[in-house]
Amino acid sequence: MTKAQPTIIYIFGGSGDLTQRKLIPALFNLYIDSYLPKHCKIIGIARNEFATTAYKSHLKKGVQKFSRRKEAVKESWARFSKQLDYAQLDLTADKSYKAIAAQIAAIRKEWEEEPTVIFYLSVAPQLAPIIAKKLSAAKLCEDPQRSRIVFEKPFGHDLESATTLNKTLCKMFKEEQIYRIDHYLGKETVQNILALRFANALFEPIWNSHYIDHIQITAAETVSVEGRGSYYEGSGALRDMVQNHVLQMLCLVAMEAPISFDADEIRNKKLDVLNAIRKWRTEDVHHNAVRGQYSKGWVEGTEVKGYREETGVAPDSDVDTFAAARFYVDNWRWKDVPFYVRTGKCLNEKTTLITIQFKPAPDFAFPEEAAHSWRSNRLMLSIAPKMDIRLRFQAKQPGPHMSLQPVDMVFNYYSAYGDNEPEAYETLLEDVIEGNPTLFMRADQVEAAWRVIKPIMEVWSTKPPVDFPNYTPGSWGPEDAEALIAKDGHHWVALPVEES
Ligand code: BG6
Repeated sequence: MTKAQPTIIYIFGGSGDLTQRKLIPALFNLYIDSYLPKHCKIIGIARNEFATTAYKSHLKKGVQKFSRRKEAVKESWARFSKQLDYAQLDLTADKSYKAIAAQIAAIRKEWEEEPTVIFYLSVAPQLAPIIAKKLSAAKLCEDPQRSRIVFEKPFGHDLESATTLNKTLCKMFKEEQIYRIDHYLGKETVQNILALRFANALFEPIWNSHYIDHIQITAAETVSVEGRGSYYEGSGALRDMVQNHVLQMLCLVAMEAPISFDADEIRNKKLDVLNAIRKWRTEDVHHNAVRGQYSKGWVEGTEVKGYREETGVAPDSDVDTFAAARFYVDNWRWKDVPFYVRTGKCLNEKTTLITIQFKPAPDFAFPEEAAHSWRSNRLMLSIAPKMDIRLRFQAKQPGPHMSLQPVDMVFNYYSAYGDNEPEAYETLLEDVIEGNPTLFMRADQVEAAWRVIKPIMEVWSTKPPVDFPNYTPGSWGPEDAEALIAKDGHHWVALPVEES
């Protein structure tokens, strides 16, 4: 049972997609696992008209469809839903905040306890600063111990806007009250990077440029922009995925060992990585970054429209739906080790994969024929949807000759722990309720990440692409992405295809 204080969670944007698909299913699972405080109220706020009963059944449908424990609805929904409520309020109007203050006062009176109040902003990015100002003006976040404000990405549109937003927020709230979500950090397998690296004596001594040749991070999706064309037009793959999720994974792979699991200790170590990433000069961007946009075609047997034909997308849009880059972390540990990253929509496979490619072992002692199949060691951390860690090493094939073959040693999450791991939003919401910001982005981290992609963004915005659309759905992106890594004598790695 959680030791968390009585809590009120306001979800601003309570009728939206994220609330129905992710937030309520996550809170429902936390409830089943007894992670919600005994006194807990979850109040959706939006402009839409909803009777509370209709709102609850809308959320129930979401849980039935998206929760990892759909069967629990029968047993637990009625009890859980007693904590749910809805208020139709215009979040740009001052009087709405008066209503919220009055509601908090009434709940305080009923519980006879001071609640922690969480304001979860699941709203359009342009509304976030407006709401933050109104919360502050209404003195709803006065107590930094008892009030928290959660921001969904995107956090800013570029370095300048993120810095301005941080400055605005820092005038009104303490940094420890601000929770900037990057949902990748809540994923079990992402968190496990720290365990793998720092809870084992085996990996850390070889986790450096002496033994590692290069690192790859792939975050590929098969889906298109799925009706989010107008959002995506202001974003693109570099902003949507690299600035946050991909760079956060890179930080976890590259950071120095923390001396504790204190929130600021971990975040400081990650910040060091972002600060150490080489910032490309304008003239270097072309050699180190590749962009792409999908044409129309087929993915997994389904016909998809070209990006430029999507609703809300300009017919001559230059927005990237694919981005790949080579980064260097300029410190002692990672001197000259390339980090290749790529992400995109409508690609061949849904996979988030981190590959640590080790340097080759010397082969001179082995007969020539054995050296034919010589392969370097490789550690693959499969983050999603497959969740496993596989280490490739050389083995002798049975027989009279010294014949070698690369084989995989695999740790599979599902066989070890079953397939019911908590969703990222469960972990993150639980942390907000408990007041643990370790897995959330601090202001300086967000800005440092924008600084990394800033030169690429600038070059891409001033030099329109000449070849868009330049990849077909179902492929691995534009050919230039293959060339980016092939220039260094490498190739992108995918998970081995399992025999059915
Ligand atoms: C979001 C992006 O942050 O992450 C989406 O805005 C993307 O465009 C999504 O589809 C991918 O998340 P996941 O967990 O499905 O890999």
